[in-house]
Amino acid sequence: MAEITAWKRQTGEVRPWFARQAIRHNAALTQAWLTPLGKPVLILSDYQEAQDIFLRRGKEFHRGPRNCDAFHGSIPEHHIAMMSSDPRFKRNKELVRDLMTPGFLHEVSAPGIYAKSLILVELWALKSQLAQGKPFNALADIFNAATDMINAAAFAFGSDMSAIKAQLDHIRSCSSPETIQASSFPVDASGAVQFPTVPELPDISACRDVAEHVGVLFNALMPRLEDRWKMLTNRRLKKSVKRKDEMIRREIEKSLARMESGDGAMLSAVDHLLQREKAAATKADRNPDFHSRKIYDELLGYIVAGHETSATALAWTIKLIASHQHVQERLRMALRTAYASAAAEERVPMVSEITTASAPYLDAVIEESLRYAPPIPLLIRSAKVDTTLLGHHVPMGTTVFMPAVGPSYTAPAVPVRECDRSESSRTKGWGGRWDEEDMHLFQPDRWLKVDENGKERFHSQAGPMITFGLGLRSCFGKRLAYLEVRIMLALLVWNFRFKEIEGRLASNEANEAITTSPKFCYVALETLC
Ligand code: HEM
Repeated sequence: MAEITAWKRQTGEVRPWFARQAIRHNAALTQAWLTPLGKPVLILSDYQEAQDIFLRRGKEFHRGPRNCDAFHGSIPEHHIAMMSSDPRFKRNKELVRDLMTPGFLHEVSAPGIYAKSLILVELWALKSQLAQGKPFNALADIFNAATDMINAAAFAFGSDMSAIKAQLDHIRSCSSPETIQASSFPVDASGAVQFPTVPELPDISACRDVAEHVGVLFNALMPRLEDRWKMLTNRRLKKSVKRKDEMIRREIEKSLARMESGDGAMLSAVDHLLQREKAAATKADRNPDFHSRKIYDELLGYIVAGHETSATALAWTIKLIASHQHVQERLRMALRTAYASAAAEERVPMVSEITTASAPYLDAVIEESLRYAPPIPLLIRSAKVDTTLLGHHVPMGTTVFMPAVGPSYTAPAVPVRECDRSESSRTKGWGGRWDEEDMHLFQPDRWLKVDENGKERFHSQAGPMITFGLGLRSCFGKRLAYLEVRIMLALLVWNFRFKEIEGRLASNEANEAITTSPKFCYVALETLC
């Protein structure tokens, strides 16, 4: 524990400590004491064995109470806060299942995500003009855009509830033709232009407060205790919890009004959930309960789990393409080939083009960013029963941390004796390995393969990656995350060249909340369209 505290003081982060233990001890499985009187925990840095636990050892390992506890106070009726054995888990998953079908994502979620991405493009076109090639901090804009996207997908919020539009209007209002000629926004000591920001809209701020609270609990030693303490002592948080419920109530009422008016248009997740509840009630011959805690929590959980994760993924991707100019150039060329009509007609690609046209290099860049800089780099499981792992006895209740970076993923695997592996790990196929020579590098090509017709294809199973987890408790929102990152990245690379950032602003230091996000995400842009 003292060592982790010292590590945190030195680096500001805790999660990388877990990934380092395998290399330090040259052992795929290590043991650590994290709390003075607590039980020891295990750290497993081996893809083959981790995959086996996620996919095939469900009777011995489960999600465990730790993650559930982090969400329990704020969204107790969301499936993320439930153990897999809880009968409500299956029922809740059933309620939200269709939100991740290709049909729903492409027809209902994508148009809103695309519209918000275009506002981000507009904001950055203006900022890049005002900054005249100098860098500016992109992190808040990325987080605002991601918030708008998930809110659009959840509630079909229009531009009056858009955080990124509010920023655009504000920058417009304080930039005149003169300021565009000779930028009058201050430049800080590191050479970055400081743009003013507007205060967040109260409803968005309330949801963000709750999400940040979950982030604190995610890293707390005793999440349930910390939650109770914060709810007792933090008046702002208490107000935000109330306000987000009022907002969800209002959006449910709006959706019901649409439903009753006979306008059957499906605009968002809330419309879908209410229609499912109505159908379920009719089938069971009961009155529908549109204001159940389950519906409120599934909607808020969608926002909490979906906004920071996607924003962090895009932020790392942008840093990576700026520091790997050859990847960025190739990606731009690939987009111009994939969206050839848009290129020929000198317009931005339409949402339908981005979601349907095959663009293997775009997929490869996204996948490689997620492998190289996973937003959640540490996964957790817990032993349900006394069992063994790599030949060692593991008592029931033991927490197993599984880093998504380090050995197997971004560094050579630590050798493991085959006889120590579980039988299912030894006998079931588990995929390939990355080339040890280059697995520490950011190289999207590793995800491409040439098929029998000589065509380059994206190969999603090319090698080890657990960025979204695997199996029953893997990421529910993975498809939505890919859709968001795909639309945003395609539009940004189409419209801007991201110049290389130098010095401190290019640092890879990170902040830890629900995700591990970059502390510094600066962009210096050249507008292309
Ligand atoms: C790039 C973006 C994202 C990343 C990297 C990510 C990653 C993860 C990871 C690592 C887990 C835990 C998996 C495990 O323990 O096996 C998880 C769970 C989850 N994610 Fe995501 N996620 C992302 C985006 C989203 C989005 C957009 C949503 C929803 C709109 C979402 C909803 C969830 C939910 C509900 C769970 C809990 C599933 C369960 O408990 O069964 N995620 N995610």
